[in-house]
Amino acid sequence: MKITKAVIPAAGLGTRMLPISKAVPKEMLPIVDKPAISYLVKEAVDSGIQDILIITAFGKEAMADYFDYSPIYDHHLEKKGQHEAAQTLRSLADMANIYFLRQKEAKGLGHAVLTAKSFVGNDDFVVMYGDDVIISEKPVVRQLMDVYEKYGLGVAGVKEVPWELVMKYCSLDASLLEDHVYHVKNMIEKPKTREEAFTNLSILGRVILPASIFDILEQTGPGAGGEIQLTDAMKELCLREGMCALDFEGTRYDMGSKLGFLMANVKEGVKNEEIGAPFKTFLKEFIKEL
Ligand code: UTP
Repeated sequence: MKITKAVIPAAGLGTRMLPISKAVPKEMLPIVDKPAISYLVKEAVDSGIQDILIITAFGKEAMADYFDYSPIYDHHLEKKGQHEAAQTLRSLADMANIYFLRQKEAKGLGHAVLTAKSFVGNDDFVVMYGDDVIISEKPVVRQLMDVYEKYGLGVAGVKEVPWELVMKYCSLDASLLEDHVYHVKNMIEKPKTREEAFTNLSILGRVILPASIFDILEQTGPGAGGEIQLTDAMKELCLREGMCALDFEGTRYDMGSKLGFLMANVKEGVKNEEIGAPFKTFLKEFIKEL
């Protein structure tokens, strides 16, 4: 089966980014001049996906505005003869079929994915965590699709992370199948102790799931932090039919954390065509003061 649908949960409260997240969705925080969510949509499109559902929430309308035509800018740019700039702005709205659905209460990532049930139907699909931007040569969703097409199982994008982060993310019980590819037998969300954890392999931002995950999510009660956790449902999926994991190629930025947001802007800022060179010069000078 070919993966043709992506679900981007972006309805969380973003408490780690308060106070900005009171008024600006963390998924709209920029890397230089583009919001995090636009990197995700582009990654999905570059992986061959055209149908994208963004799970949104009250107060997060800026995301829908971003992927729409903007008559004010359109008119302004066309009047000044800047047709190419106007076309570039319009292309943001034209790059995919982007749907929006509201999660009415922030009950957790698992609950946000369950909101997508009728959009997904019986298809296997990819979930892209809305605040995880991953910059890579080959889009990470495409990397996961390759593993999915080979093994016919759900696939989690993973990395080895420092142990203190395992306690904040999740831990996978996984055995190596081939270079960078694992078979996952079990997993735990936010293990409380090192003993509770299996390995320091954690899921970072991308998973391909079968539609059968919805039956499991409907039976999944609140877990760590009182939220309905996607990891708890994936654990059940592992026990029922197994899952794979791919240690993907790419640099991941957690745009839902202050440090991740700043790192993304510094590292991607120096690569920027327009301001990269002067920004690098600034950084070299600045570093002497540190
Ligand atoms: P996070 O756990 O990073 O989001 O979820 P959060 O709950 O907003 O974070 P903090 O801890 O309060 O800062 C990963 C992705 O899942 C979405 C988030 O918007 C984020 O993009 N999410 C999370 C939902 O869509 N709904 C939820 O109920 C929770």
